[in-house]
Amino acid sequence: MGRTFNFMHFVVVCLFFFCIVESEAKQPLAPALYVLGDSFVASGNDNIQNTDAKANYAPYGIDFPNGTTGRVTNGLTLVDFYAQWLGLQVPPPYLLFNQSEKHTEGFNYASGPAGIRPETSTVDHGVFLSMDKQVELFKKTAQEYLPTLFGNPDELKDYLSKSIFLVVIGRNDYTQNFLSPKYNSSKKWNMKQFAEIITDELGSKILDLYTVGARKFLVFEIDAMGCEPAFYEKQKNECSDKLTSYISTYNHKLEVELQILAKTVRGAIFALAKRYQLMYDLVANPTRFGLKDSLNPCCPVSQSGLCLPNQAPCKDRKSQVFFDAIHPTEAVYSIIANQCFNGTGLCGSLNLQELLYRMLGARNFVVFEIDAMGCLPVMLNTPQPMPPKTRCLDQVNSLVSICNAKLAAKFNELGSFLKRLKVSPCKDRSSHVFFDGTHPSDATNKVIATDYRVLQWHTSMFPNECPTTRAEELEP
Ligand SMILES: *[C@@H]1O[C@H](CO)[C@@H](O)[C@H](O)[C@H]1NC(C)=O
Ligand SMILES: *[C@@H]1O[C@H](CO)[C@@H](O)[C@H](O)[C@H]1NC(C)=O
Ligand SMILES: *[C@@H]1O[C@H](CO)[C@@H](O)[C@H](O)[C@H]1NC(C)=O
Ligand SMILES: *[C@@H]1O[C@H](CO)[C@@H](O)[C@H](O)[C@H]1NC(C)=O
Repeated sequence: MGRTFNFMHFVVVCLFFFCIVESEAKQPLAPALYVLGDSFVASGNDNIQNTDAKANYAPYGIDFPNGTTGRVTNGLTLVDFYAQWLGLQVPPPYLLFNQSEKHTEGFNYASGPAGIRPETSTVDHGVFLSMDKQVELFKKTAQEYLPTLFGNPDELKDYLSKSIFLVVIGRNDYTQNFLSPKYNSSKKWNMKQFAEIITDELGSKILDLYTVGARKFLVFEIDAMGCEPAFYEKQKNECSDKLTSYISTYNHKLEVELQILAKTVRGAIFALAKRYQLMYDLVANPTRFGLKDSLNPCCPVSQSGLCLPNQAPCKDRKSQVFFDAIHPTEAVYSIIANQCFNGTGLCGSLNLQELLYRMLGARNFVVFEIDAMGCLPVMLNTPQPMPPKTRCLDQVNSLVSICNAKLAAKFNELGSFLKRLKVSPCKDRSSHVFFDGTHPSDATNKVIATDYRVLQWHTSMFPNECPTTRAEELEP
């Protein structure tokens, strides 16, 4: 009876563990993707806004499965790639979503003309979702919409803390504000002051998101705008120098701002996608990335740099860097997205995958193996004669050791993947030693608790591989 019970218990534990590992592989990697930003990530909110800055006409979307949607490129954007790789539905544009439907995989609040400052783009582009409004809409989502879909506040809190927040904004604060004679910003502030002001403002918007539960942020630099066909200096054959110095100043301040945020708010993590250099390299050397043309837009463009409606775009869109005179093609979005998903090129080691697996809070884990169950007194209570000099049931112990070997491999894998996370599997625990037929005495528990090393008690079939580190030597 006891033997059957223990054996079944072991099988159940082992199956349970591997079933969880297997089924998690098919689950989304994050519960949701929320997006705030401008035309580089927009997907349709502007279609129903009173603005002229829309992309809901051909040839935009020519390579997108659903055709024209409001995406400002030929096909997929950064958001579409990330949603796909995270195993999530593409976050719907918030303004086009029917709020009586249930949806917990995130929303896209982005709007083409949006800037960090509320007045940005308003002179030329009417009414749209500025960063302020986008943050307000997310607050509404977190405080009014989501609570109706979650059983209790703790569940919602946990969900938000694991969700990814993608923030891609800033360029319009230059072209549609600081550098435009229609605005007063450059009369009030110099280049450095302006960069300081808008990065500060972005920091406080991010804090607003944090306050309602957001924890994992992937923030994009402004890219090499001076190299876009709209600004490239063709006569000199170089990127616009003037824009370059503005954007570099901003990007530097943004990095500092995120470092300050990371130190001041608890339990949040900020990844920075350094796309400036990547875009610069793409323009300077497209062939290195398998592309051909980085100087010409793929579609015929208007004064604004956007595609003219219903004009045929170039055929070979897979080898173009730019779709219109400003926005990259799907081919380039795929490169950018990939480099910050699991590569180190764009975001350093703090890429999206690191963001996913970084556990906020807990860092050091000690995980116990299944012990030598074949040696438990209850197992030895058997009618069959035991082989000489063995007091353990070898079949049971070999199954245990298979399970433990898999467990150790799994944790080694995790440990090397998550460099900052210490995961120590602990070797088996058993010395004379049992209080009842199954459970160790307190003397044994004390030894196990203070020392990882294997207690050598007729467990010769287990090699002594226990790490020599003691629990107190792990980082606090
Ligand atoms: C494409 O259109 C279908 C049908 O209208 C819709 O169910 C689906 O969500 C759309 N996909 C995207 C990515 O917009
Ligand atoms: C929104 O969704 C609800 C529930 O599914 C449905 O009854 C309603 O007709 C939808 N409204 C629109 C405008 O599609
Ligand atoms: C610039 O300043 C003038 C004078 O104060 C004001 O009337 C105008 O609205 C300002 N422009 C913008 C875009 O804020
Ligand atoms: C991540 O890395 C693997 C292995 O290097 C690669 O095969 C894969 O395409 C990368 N990208 C994604 C989105 O998983």
